[in-house]
Amino acid sequence: MNKLNNRTRRVENRFGQSGSMSAKPGSPSAAKPLARDRVRTVVLVGFMGAGKTTVGRALSRRLGRPFEDLDDRIHHREGKTIEQIFRESGETGFRKAETAALRELLGELGSSLRVVALGGGAFVEPGNAALIEEAEAHSVFLDAPVEELLRRCMEETTERPLRQNPEQFRVLYEKRRRSYMRAAVRIETGGKDVDTVAAEVACSLGLG
Ligand code: S3P
Repeated sequence: MNKLNNRTRRVENRFGQSGSMSAKPGSPSAAKPLARDRVRTVVLVGFMGAGKTTVGRALSRRLGRPFEDLDDRIHHREGKTIEQIFRESGETGFRKAETAALRELLGELGSSLRVVALGGGAFVEPGNAALIEEAEAHSVFLDAPVEELLRRCMEETTERPLRQNPEQFRVLYEKRRRSYMRAAVRIETGGKDVDTVAAEVACSLGLG
């Protein structure tokens, strides 16, 4: 399963031109490192354009662990693209498919660590966040200034049903940010290249 195979290729190496990456003391990014043997699965969350898939791939290579993109699982389970599901069943239908796919994925986890990228709305659904917590997976919020997220999305040709226009994009980001902040760890990705962010995620989890 590979989002880059199924959807449009994204910018792989660099997110943007500016920004900093430091963790604020007391912020989730400064969370106590977890023992390697306690970590099972890393779940990357964040808004559209956050780089969840590209960072997930880089992190998976770095840790030598499998990577999975939840949107790809939805695509395979439903036999339809994400855009088709939205067109035919609306956002409600998509969210149902998303939760079913997440439940299935989490149910398959063995004792080995896996890197998972969620779609931008998945972690916002409280039931999904609870499933992730119950599975003892570690959620990581990839954040960036909204203008940078918008720019990254504009540079891609990926069709995103929930990206309509810049104003709607900004409003949706603000509405969701509080939910993303519930993740165990927050990593600022603004102006970073993909490998740097992946290294920071690994370090923040004590897996560096
Ligand atoms: C969505 C984001 C998309 C995809 C779907 C819904 C969202 O994933 O899951 O279009 O609700 O923000 P990406 O965040 O990978 O673009």
